[in-house]
Amino acid sequence: MSLNDARPRRVVNGGTSVNYGKEKPRDIVLGRNVHISCHEVTEPDADDEVTGEREAYMASVLARYRKSLLERTKHHLGYPYNLDLDYGALSQLQRFSINNLGDPFIESNYGVHSRQFEVGVLDWFARLWELEKNEYLGYITNCGTEGNLHGILVGREVFPDGILYASCESHYSIFKAARMYRMDCEKVNTLLSGEIDCEDFKAKLSLHKDKPAIINVNIGTTVKGAVDDLDLVIRTLEDTGFAHDRFYIHCDGALFGLMMPFVKLAPKVTFKKPIGSVSVSGHKFVGCPMPCGVQITRLEHINALSRDVEYLASRDATIMGSRNGHAPLFLWYTLNRKGYGGFQKEVQKCLRNAHYLKGRLTSAGIGAMLNELSSTVVFERPQDEEFTRKWQLACQGSIAHVVVMPNITIDKLDDFVDELIERRVVWYGNGKLQSPCVAPDIGEDNCLCVLHK
Ligand SMILES: Cc1ncc(COP(=O)(O)O)c(C=O)c1O
Repeated sequence: MSLNDARPRRVVNGGTSVNYGKEKPRDIVLGRNVHISCHEVTEPDADDEVTGEREAYMASVLARYRKSLLERTKHHLGYPYNLDLDYGALSQLQRFSINNLGDPFIESNYGVHSRQFEVGVLDWFARLWELEKNEYLGYITNCGTEGNLHGILVGREVFPDGILYASCESHYSIFKAARMYRMDCEKVNTLLSGEIDCEDFKAKLSLHKDKPAIINVNIGTTVKGAVDDLDLVIRTLEDTGFAHDRFYIHCDGALFGLMMPFVKLAPKVTFKKPIGSVSVSGHKFVGCPMPCGVQITRLEHINALSRDVEYLASRDATIMGSRNGHAPLFLWYTLNRKGYGGFQKEVQKCLRNAHYLKGRLTSAGIGAMLNELSSTVVFERPQDEEFTRKWQLACQGSIAHVVVMPNITIDKLDDFVDELIERRVVWYGNGKLQSPCVAPDIGEDNCLCVLHK
């Protein structure tokens, strides 16, 4: 299903609650309580240094942990993390406490920093999103969430009485920002594809024409990988009477912000359009081993937020104080190694493999949806939490998804689908239980339940 095909379709997701179809809302299944299996911190015994017992104990705990990480990495499909990592060259830097506290462009008095790498990375992203070096301010964040918190905060500082608009399928960090900053927030309906419904957006804008608009635009939603139509959002604002100096757009590109520029014929996220900021996660498609992200903001907006701090001898325009100085090194290393060409190949592989997965699911009679620009394959939620946990699937209501990242091979997808088919025989084979109808979530055309086959 292409996004263009999806655009005029009926809206299914309301602004305030998730639509679970005919089933009654199910309770959220929380993960296991880690307190039961945590590794206690204990006081060393007096003779530990002599016997070496403590060292041996800790080494065995870490060895077991490493083994479990290898196993969990092998079976991971549900979250948008590229687990294909090779950062051996950076292990020599692990013993340094690298901290970029304060502004990336102004050195603080703390000298063990990596700003020279951070700014190189920021320039790369500013070029990708078409903003000149002297026109942006950005920084390497702790994660996509921090980028969203920053983008919305800049919007709020530019328009203190602005109303925040975000589709109801936006990441929860957007609504967290609204709560943190005590902003009025309008949740906008979505189309079946998961992208923002601009008719509803227009209706909601019309209710508050007297207030500036701060808009979160999703460059890939969390659950369905849907890309909001940025051009249509801008046109809707203009048509509703919002001039460019009365709105601020933040683009949440946590996963897809770095994939879309490499998808042929995809619409462009670019500062040539009237947007204020873009954020992306660094541990998702790029594949950093620790959470991090990149935030790029138009320089003209940043003065509304920043303050000079004498103690740092630097400027404060970020959300956090101390900032991870290792993350820029990992980002710099990957960008240099792969370059535009490397990312393009990886994006193409992910999209190909996502189509393969969708094809295998549908040929096995399992309804699935894959948005045109995305590598997120949505399908029915497995019945069995153990299976969900084994493959680390992300679930919401009646649906689950696999996000096909560069480390996910055809072999792994085959193992997953084969096991899912086997398990479905157990769940549904005796006819007592039927596979769920996912039409309310992904549309009748994509559903293969008994009603919609
Ligand atoms: C659309 C979207 N925005 C923001 C985030 C938050 O990113 P992070 O986990 O890096 O904080 C996610 C995470 O999956 C996401 O899907």
